[in-house]
Amino acid sequence: MKFSKATNSKIGYSQSVESRLKIQNLQQATPELSCLSGSDVVKGLTQKPLSLSPHYLYDDRGSELFEKICELPEYYVTRTETSILQNCAEEIVKITGACELIELGSGSSTKTRILLDAYQKLGQEVRYLPIDVSAGILEASARQLLVDYPSLKVHALVGTYEQALRELQLSELPNRMIAFIGSTLGNLNPQACDDFLSQITAALQLEEYFLLGVDLQKPKDILEAAYNDYAGVTATFNLNILNHLNNRFNGNFDLSKFEHWAFYNETKNQIEMHLRSLEPQTVELGSLNLKVDFEKGETINTEISRKFDINAIQDLLKTKGLIPQKVWTDDNQWFGLILSKLS
Ligand code: AVJ
Repeated sequence: MKFSKATNSKIGYSQSVESRLKIQNLQQATPELSCLSGSDVVKGLTQKPLSLSPHYLYDDRGSELFEKICELPEYYVTRTETSILQNCAEEIVKITGACELIELGSGSSTKTRILLDAYQKLGQEVRYLPIDVSAGILEASARQLLVDYPSLKVHALVGTYEQALRELQLSELPNRMIAFIGSTLGNLNPQACDDFLSQITAALQLEEYFLLGVDLQKPKDILEAAYNDYAGVTATFNLNILNHLNNRFNGNFDLSKFEHWAFYNETKNQIEMHLRSLEPQTVELGSLNLKVDFEKGETINTEISRKFDINAIQDLLKTKGLIPQKVWTDDNQWFGLILSKLS
């Protein structure tokens, strides 16, 4: 395992920030994982219906665009979860006490600040382990947190959830809580969701906590508006996946020859996001030795976003030994936060 000491860039606060920051790149340790070698891209683009793994949406530009989505008037998800967290953060701190907060897919850590504030306010020590595939945003937000929270220690892990859950070391503090908020669980199909929760169980010790945020079922018009925003940010975010593939695998996708398409599948209770080819075309990804032929109207599925039933998801958690301790929601019951404990 390699630890890269972050380089000193600014003077003044940098000493104390550097001493409280550790950045560990897990991707260097296991470069053969399919999500990095591109074998999952080859697989997704050589079998029909075409698909891409949604984590390709999150290069540095994609993560920036996602931050913009979170502020859109139609995208109720982030606002709703934030308001729930504001109401329940102190309760969470009282339940966990001093703890290591391991966050999967931390992005810019905006919502996490609500939790960090509560630990600070109640005088409970916390060590923060953000995990994200986007190295740029991860390091930038870790540094900002260290400036804003003078006693915080951050150990950032660059990698996928799978990599990180496998590499987690035993806690330095009395307790640990894995936080998976933002409804990212919705990206996983039922089988992948089941496997993922098994990995959570395997990564935790008995009596440790799992905080899960899930988007809940609601009327179709509200859901479809959230993924087809008026300003077109979601469309740009979706199309950027092609840009990412171009950069990463020496490709020649022409973004003007594809369009964003998102709808709610009421049978599967999921938003499906696709890119539709506007004309017949052939695209190459040079470094993967891959040529893909598209028919006019053919689509690539880039993401699913499942909408959960609050009781069904709790039942699923229980089957993994993750026993719900407390559930919080908003007045509309649009979003749910579940704190469970491995027992
Ligand atoms: C980050 C997976 C929760 O599904 O709502 C937002 C991603 N995609 N708009 C979601 C997303 C399009 C988001 N998650």
